[in-house]
Amino acid sequence: MGEVTNVSEYEAIAKQKLPKMVFDYYASGAEDQWTLQENRNAFSRILFRPRILIDVSKIDMSTTVLGFKISMPIMIAPTAMQKMAHPEGEYATARAASAAGTIMTLSSWATSSVEEVASTGPGIRFFQLYVYKDRNVVAQLVRRAERAGFKAIALTVDTPRLGRREADIKNRFTLPPFLTLKNFEGLDLGKMDQADDSGLASYVAGQIDRTLSWKDVKWLQTITKLPILVKGVLTAEDTRIAVQSGAAGIIVSNHGARQLDYVPATISALEEVVKAAQGRVPVFLDGGVRRGTDVFKALALGASGIFIGRPVVFSLAAEGEAGVRKVLQMLRDEFELTMALSGCRSLKEISRDHIVADWDTPRTQQPRYNPRL
Ligand code: FNR
Repeated sequence: MGEVTNVSEYEAIAKQKLPKMVFDYYASGAEDQWTLQENRNAFSRILFRPRILIDVSKIDMSTTVLGFKISMPIMIAPTAMQKMAHPEGEYATARAASAAGTIMTLSSWATSSVEEVASTGPGIRFFQLYVYKDRNVVAQLVRRAERAGFKAIALTVDTPRLGRREADIKNRFTLPPFLTLKNFEGLDLGKMDQADDSGLASYVAGQIDRTLSWKDVKWLQTITKLPILVKGVLTAEDTRIAVQSGAAGIIVSNHGARQLDYVPATISALEEVVKAAQGRVPVFLDGGVRRGTDVFKALALGASGIFIGRPVVFSLAAEGEAGVRKVLQMLRDEFELTMALSGCRSLKEISRDHIVADWDTPRTQQPRYNPRL
């Protein structure tokens, strides 16, 4: 195999290296996986309107997220159980993120604890929260994340039940017995039982609170001072409620197409959310970002930054920390090149006019000059 030259190539390498049960868990979407394809396809329906003859000898990709300075608007989404990909799991991801000067979001269902990840060294980290039925568990975990120096909570709101991922059902997916959901080990919730279908779906049905509602977003603010990002918003309606409920930011996400199938691609839902947020809170996006051009398109549609999910677990499986570093570097380089070729020297210069989307006024329907008339 030749040198890896783009982020997507890690998927095939991971497929060769990983047990089928693990690869399928990482790669799958829900049901027909229509949204999984659409998360990628929708990017290809957005084209550039580049500006030329602008001095692009200096490009600044740095930005600020919730007041924290980072080197680029490319961050790491929470993905569960990273030690199934590589023995160093979340440690490797944390080190790679910190070396790249960007933010890692640690999953509630990590195979390393908040304290262990904090011990890898300095870095700006967010903690992704699943709300368990037992609110003492939640309160303890949030307190531990705070103490371990995590800077924000990404509250996942699209998972009252687990989406139907058919490969996981066929494979009887479960966490391998030599691993635990480390954050829950001391609480006796760290193991995942085998089930007749997906072990994870059963775990969620047993432990995760289906009653979760907007009042709990308020409740969360009574137990923590950390800013709360609401992860899993796809509509203007929910954006307005999230802002009213005290969210510090919104993550437009369809959970990597693993929850409700036939929701739109996140890049298609982004602009509606950005408009509804009215600049009151930053809006982020995850889902299908695999190229620097994708990052640019999201920013042109009003995102303050993006997160990547699968590229991290696939590159981790292929090459450990070096793989995750390389993914972040390749996306960074591609994004910088996209900025240069579009005539943008800083993130604030990236505008809606630098792209044209398929939902913009179709140019083909405008009267056209016909040389024969
Ligand atoms: C996820 N995602 C996720 N989200 C979350 O809030 N908590 C979690 O524990 C996980 N775990 C998880 C595992 C795996 C294997 C995947 C692929 C995804 C969703 C994740 O945060 C993010 O929304 C998507 O992964 C983004 O889409 P891409 O970049 O994978 O296309």
